[in-house]
Amino acid sequence: MPDGSTATGISTNLDTEVGKLALDSGLATQTEIEFCREQQKQSSDPNQRSLADLLVENAFITVNQAKRIKSQLEERKNTSQIPGYQLIGRIGKGAMATVYKARQLSLDRIVAIKVLPKRMSENKEFVDRFYYEGRAAAKLSHNNIVQAIDVGSTPDGFHFFVMEYIEGLTLYDLMLPPPTGQGRSFSEAEALDTMIQITDALAHAHNRGLIHRDVKPKNIILTPEGVAKLTDLGLAREVNDTQLAESEAGKAYGTPYYISPEQIRGDVDIDFRADIYSLGATMYHLVTGRPPFEADTPSAVMHKHLKQALRPPDHINTALSPGISEIVEVAMAKEREERYARTEDMLEDLRAVRSNQPPTHARRIVDLDSLAQVEETGKTVDISVPKPSWTEVFDQPAFVVVVVAAGISVLINLIFLVVALTRH
Ligand SMILES: Nc1ncnc2c1ncn2[C@@H]1O[C@H](COP(=O)(O)OP(=O)(O)OP(=O)(O)O)[C@@H](O)[C@H]1O
Ligand SMILES: [Mg+2]
Repeated sequence: MPDGSTATGISTNLDTEVGKLALDSGLATQTEIEFCREQQKQSSDPNQRSLADLLVENAFITVNQAKRIKSQLEERKNTSQIPGYQLIGRIGKGAMATVYKARQLSLDRIVAIKVLPKRMSENKEFVDRFYYEGRAAAKLSHNNIVQAIDVGSTPDGFHFFVMEYIEGLTLYDLMLPPPTGQGRSFSEAEALDTMIQITDALAHAHNRGLIHRDVKPKNIILTPEGVAKLTDLGLAREVNDTQLAESEAGKAYGTPYYISPEQIRGDVDIDFRADIYSLGATMYHLVTGRPPFEADTPSAVMHKHLKQALRPPDHINTALSPGISEIVEVAMAKEREERYARTEDMLEDLRAVRSNQPPTHARRIVDLDSLAQVEETGKTVDISVPKPSWTEVFDQPAFVVVVVAAGISVLINLIFLVVALTRH
């Protein structure tokens, strides 16, 4: 029967949907589905045998295929009722949520909607934070930040976050080897262009009191025109950072490659410098083709973030300029006091290196650090303060003041001399 109902009227709507999906996705044939339907009819207690169960029992589909069908149906049901939006399709799924492409009916435009699993609505503190941070993010406006549009919940209690839809691929997808990814590598100039945009975006957010806490290649989308967009800013996280890192552990694609040491330790006073560390780690990956620390287990990766000295990026990719390596090393200092003191400083250094100038903020931090070492240990270290060339001396304000003062003094003396001579 076309609608899937049986003569006994026992078959549920769910069975109808399961049958349709199994057929549409090519997992079972019409004959196999009808065979199982017939078995349902013949059974003395049809209530106990769902279509999915029978398809598995008859080895028409596997247990996992049945699970996938059920979870797809569940998902469809959950998201069919986002008020004001019409879902178009699924874009992707992360550790925490699923992202859909949708049409915002009021403005007739395409948007992306992140739908959180229902379990999250049970945590009141999380829900409050979700709305609070969503509103804060919606106030930001920056070309390199995915615009937050709306937050809300479905009648069934699913919370969702509506944002600008971005055409493009994440840095993660771009770098991932084929066939899943594009296997793309980034030249120093391309990496700098991308990181300048994202650092600019973060400086904007940091100045307005928002910290991202999860900067990583998966949260940066590059459009076909080369515009980098930071996603998930202001998206409250359900768990603390260590739990977040661990929740990623089970996924083949996710380990805590970019997380700061203080987030790993579970410190409570996380500030913008956690983002600076993750920016550095993301840039490390872009310019060397690998994350800064690798190990077999997530906890081993986290241990390295805490304890292991960073292998400078220019030791891995010897074609890199020393400047870019210095920026990464300062951004990824284990102690946040030794990182950039302002996001703008990092931005200025990135721009300087992009125009073949030295990263002055990074150098100053490294020099101060070396001085502190001298004080602490009494050891001397080589601090190379670049000597100005003779032409640069003319650019120094102090030099100009001295020359002008000397000139005026000579002039006054000459006047006195002339006056004195004319009197005689
Ligand atoms: N605004 C958007 N426009 C277009 N695609 C998006 C947008 N936001 C996210 N995506 C896509 O959806 C996918 C899933 O995003 P999501 O943030 O849920 O997970 P993730 O960032 O990959 O992983 P994680 O859960 O670890 O953060 C992303 O990989 C990206 O491809
Ligand atoms: Mg994301």
